[in-house]
Amino acid sequence: SSLSDWTQVEEYSNSFLVRQDDAFNAIQHNDKNRGLPDIAVSANQGKFLYLLAKTFGARRCLEVGTLGGFSTAWMARAVPDDGKVVTFELNENYGKIARENWKIAGVSDKISLVLGSATETLVQYDPKERFDLAFIDADKEHCLLYFREAKRLVRKGGVIIVDNVVRYGKVADPSYQDHDTNGVRDLLKAIQSDDDVDATSLNTVGSKGLDGFLYALLK
Ligand code: DHB
Ligand code: MG
Repeated sequence: SSLSDWTQVEEYSNSFLVRQDDAFNAIQHNDKNRGLPDIAVSANQGKFLYLLAKTFGARRCLEVGTLGGFSTAWMARAVPDDGKVVTFELNENYGKIARENWKIAGVSDKISLVLGSATETLVQYDPKERFDLAFIDADKEHCLLYFREAKRLVRKGGVIIVDNVVRYGKVADPSYQDHDTNGVRDLLKAIQSDDDVDATSLNTVGSKGLDGFLYALLK
């Protein structure tokens, strides 16, 4: 029935709330044509990141896990002309596709791409200015490491979002014991006793299945 067709449910609300956008549509088509794994955020999630950044006037955004740069482009749209999105990606080919996509969306000037393993590049990263917003959406195995680095790099009052903290329900089901699922559990456990942040999760269902955003405010 249509009640369990999560993609249809998402498209219904999108039809009123998320305006069709030639550039973002073209990015999604390019990702598909290039054979990227279908794991980018959905358009309504991308717009959430955009709205969040707009809401508290984010000028600098940090991203871990670029993929084809779809979420990157949404955040780049949100920051002012002198703002920046710095995004970290392991896979050179993904980076190449992301650069194509940012050209399509006209946001290349607002984005810096750092290629390499974020377990090294992010740890060594020492920018002059802190970030307002971080979006972590890379491998799940190291998401606690990325979260700790994001805490170092984001200012007080800033926000860290982590994608995929539900993972189709796997995180809550102890019979799943792979590195990625355990990586998410390690993050949740660490936040449980972390007095630096105030956090919640926005559990979502839609075209990407059952999943969720962790939302952490740096106190
Ligand atoms: C996977 C990764 C993601 O970032 C996501 O949003 C969904 C799935 C994955 O690696 O399977
Ligand atoms: Mg993700």
